[in-house]
Amino acid sequence: MNNADLNARKNAATPRGVGVTCDFYAQRAENAELWDIEGRRFIDFAAGIAVNNTGHRHPKVVAAMRAQLDRFTHTAYQVVPYASYIELAERINARAPGDFAKKTAFFTTGAEAVENAVKIARAATGRPGVIAFSGAFHGRTLMGMALTGKVMPYKAGFGPFPSDVFHAPFPNPLHGVTSADSLKALDTLFKADVDPKRVAAIIFEPVQGEGGFYQAPADFVSALRKLCDQFGILLIADEVQTGFARTGKLFAMQHYDVAPDLMTIAKSLAGGMPLSGVVGRADIMDAAAPGGLGGTYAGNPLAVAAALAVLDVIDEEQLCERADRLGEKLKAKLTDVRGSVPQIIDVRGPGAMVAVEFCRPGTHEPDADCAKRVQARALERGLLLLVCGVYSNVIRFLFPLTIQDAVFDEALVILDDVLKETSRAAVA
Ligand SMILES: Cc1ncc(COP(=O)(O)O)c(C=O)c1O
Repeated sequence: MNNADLNARKNAATPRGVGVTCDFYAQRAENAELWDIEGRRFIDFAAGIAVNNTGHRHPKVVAAMRAQLDRFTHTAYQVVPYASYIELAERINARAPGDFAKKTAFFTTGAEAVENAVKIARAATGRPGVIAFSGAFHGRTLMGMALTGKVMPYKAGFGPFPSDVFHAPFPNPLHGVTSADSLKALDTLFKADVDPKRVAAIIFEPVQGEGGFYQAPADFVSALRKLCDQFGILLIADEVQTGFARTGKLFAMQHYDVAPDLMTIAKSLAGGMPLSGVVGRADIMDAAAPGGLGGTYAGNPLAVAAALAVLDVIDEEQLCERADRLGEKLKAKLTDVRGSVPQIIDVRGPGAMVAVEFCRPGTHEPDADCAKRVQARALERGLLLLVCGVYSNVIRFLFPLTIQDAVFDEALVILDDVLKETSRAAVA
């Protein structure tokens, strides 16, 4: 079995809609390294799309799952419950932002957490409307797609979408959209499209993930909180990509001095196991009637065991501090390279949620080709990177926060070479 054979079989057996970045197949992975079936080694700066903040197969996570495997793997929590689910909810409630009583329900995917946050908000307010932002990504289910603010490839051809979903521009000072512009657009939305008293929730990502790693400015988040309080709207923070130490805090909302009413969590919550959740104000979380929330696999015991271990690892290995340290080192490298790469228009991101954005030199025109070439050349050199952004002109860095220093430094050397080579080739 080799990569070429598997690519042929993949193309014959699976639909192209499941787009795949790499043309090689995983054999094994350890912390920040991955080997393909032909024995080639890669440094993994994608981490399963922000899932492996604690690395591939962290020994503590693996041990916790092994121990759970020997007890039971599935009972359906809603049929026969287990203590670990409650323990995880207690630990998340204690750590989530907001100085009020909280409850948590678990699900399986990020999109499912978003769906359930909207269900809970509607049940709690008795209102239908939901407001999201341009550039947002909230998942591939019908409501997730409706909330998502990027048409290609997420929405094209998949409508009609659920009604009562509205979008406002996300602030993006780099590209001329200030917090005031976004707030004005919300005001216009309330005048032109929807009575704020019909709006159940505003959902936003503290740092847009797929949308390009743009962080919501602090004045904007405070203003959103005020607006929600003024009109009885619930504020939902989608922390699916930002959570679990990525931004230098356990949750990105801890960078702000206001708390959301509901928060969605997934991805790095369970170190590679499918687990998501909604955490929020206890009274709001109790709005749905018994049986209204859940799912056959929701809060699967193996995934819950992994998540409990992930929380331990984040504390024991001080991964928030490490995210800050590694993020600073990466940003310093990118800022240094910027002098030789005129396509770099911005280096940004809190903690280790770092991105570099490319535009045509001297302009604000997105340069998706540059991002694509950097990604392709890095992959040739054994460094796996991901692209993001509404214009696909941003490279985002999602390395495991447990990455060994030597492997991280090796990746920075590759990145330095690749950025300079790509820029020179484009200019030549
Ligand atoms: C902010 C955000 N919300 C929701 C989702 C959807 O998560 P999932 O792919 O697990 O359904 C993602 C996935 O990238 C995300 O980044």
